[in-house]
Amino acid sequence: ALSDKDQMKKKVGEYAATFIQNGTAIGIGTGSTAYWMIMALGAKVREGFQITAVPTSRATVELAQAQGIPLATLNDVDRLALTIDGADEVDPAFQLIKGGGGAHLQEKMVAAASDRMIVIADEQKLVNRLGKFPLPIEVIPFGWKQVQRRVAALGCPSSEIRQRDGKPWITDHGNYILDAHFGAIADAPALGHALHEIPGVVEHGLFIGLATEVLVGYADGTVKELRK
Ligand code: A5P
Repeated sequence: ALSDKDQMKKKVGEYAATFIQNGTAIGIGTGSTAYWMIMALGAKVREGFQITAVPTSRATVELAQAQGIPLATLNDVDRLALTIDGADEVDPAFQLIKGGGGAHLQEKMVAAASDRMIVIADEQKLVNRLGKFPLPIEVIPFGWKQVQRRVAALGCPSSEIRQRDGKPWITDHGNYILDAHFGAIADAPALGHALHEIPGVVEHGLFIGLATEVLVGYADGTVKELRK
């Protein structure tokens, strides 16, 4: 049986799949909420639905392939009609923190190539201000401690390289993730720009001006479409 949280994710993921239109090219996200959207999309494809999907991670490639969803890479398409993806935090201005799954580099590139980005989240992801969730920053392994120093100078004394089994976790693009505990982020766009100024930063998990719609799953089983 699914936990209450997984029920919320399933509901919102399946609901989001109803926004996908026949004959379009779309971006498909990564994570445990996007999982349900991809499963629902697989069912549509088996019913004859025509779609081309650009996946946002290797994990999503594998899942989508198992579902028989036709895939393309970002270089195969001009624009995408829509991307549907999860998030780790969503604020009232639809600014996001992503990268809890370490896929935010590709996720951001795909979202930026899309006319619409629908975020799918359970109610626990909604925050008034971003930053409680540690901000994932993808960094080049070479000299990452220099990046950590610069991140500290931006007001984040505590950050660490994401580990698995005592070793740095490696992204799909061969990099490390620095998880940065900023606490409440006062100005997310300014922080995003400042992080991009640091040599060695590949991409950070702040998504500004990308999400156009947010679907939220609630514990009572309902899904709401948020308005900005
Ligand atoms: C992946 O890098 C992340 O950006 C995910 O989109 C995010 O972590 C949401 O995942 P869940 O739906 O599993 O919480």
